[in-house]
Amino acid sequence: MTGVQANPGTQLIVALDVDTLDEAARVADQLGPLVPWYKIGKQLFTRHGPDAVRMVRERGSRVFLDLKYHDIPNTVAEAVRAAAGIGADLVNVHAGGGPSMLAAAAEAGQKSGVLVVAVTVLTSLDERELRATGVAATPAEQVVRLARLAQANGIPGVVCSALEIGALRQACGPEFVLVVPGIRPAGSGTDDQKRVMTPRAAAAAGADYIVVGRPIRQAPDPQAAVRQILEELKG
Ligand code: C5P
Repeated sequence: MTGVQANPGTQLIVALDVDTLDEAARVADQLGPLVPWYKIGKQLFTRHGPDAVRMVRERGSRVFLDLKYHDIPNTVAEAVRAAAGIGADLVNVHAGGGPSMLAAAAEAGQKSGVLVVAVTVLTSLDERELRATGVAATPAEQVVRLARLAQANGIPGVVCSALEIGALRQACGPEFVLVVPGIRPAGSGTDDQKRVMTPRAAAAAGADYIVVGRPIRQAPDPQAAVRQILEELKG
């Protein structure tokens, strides 16, 4: 797994939520070696597939392939292996896929050298929406339940909102890897994110990775935005 370790200090992941490989490469070229990680999600991957991963790897950064696998165990395990094969360093699966799927994903990740984390409850689901799916627990309860389930089946971490860091550290311990989107540097707007935290606060709360997209890509000076975030993470 190309040197990916649990709890390496809080690391920055920049979300490449763009349509074209050219746009993605422009972001990566502009930010250069400042950025250790990029996140490639469904938008870019559906259009450009492994070429997008290759583009990032060629520039010396690591890749979080955010495809949120959710399928039968064998299919998810093969997808994890395939992700490792095209050069991803970190991938995610839905914890709601259940114990067998999580165990299969964890084993595939270990064998193929890619870090696998789980998505618990999508932050777009509020209590009412969650209930409509047949889950009577609150989103906060369900997040902890699914994180424990993931951990019990060998998955070393989760993607979570900044407000869940404390509860998850308590439930799953200090080694559990927490990947946290919804980060907004001090003084920037919130876009459509509702529950945001600054990089410094997220680092202080115990995030291992923070995911930042628009505040960097749409900044007048993206490099300066990255430098400010890296400073915040150090401080
Ligand atoms: O542009 P922004 O910083 O809001 O981007 C955050 C990234 O993290 C996006 O790719 C978004 O899909 C992802 N994400 C999120 N909230 C979650 C899970 C993932 O914003 N709960």
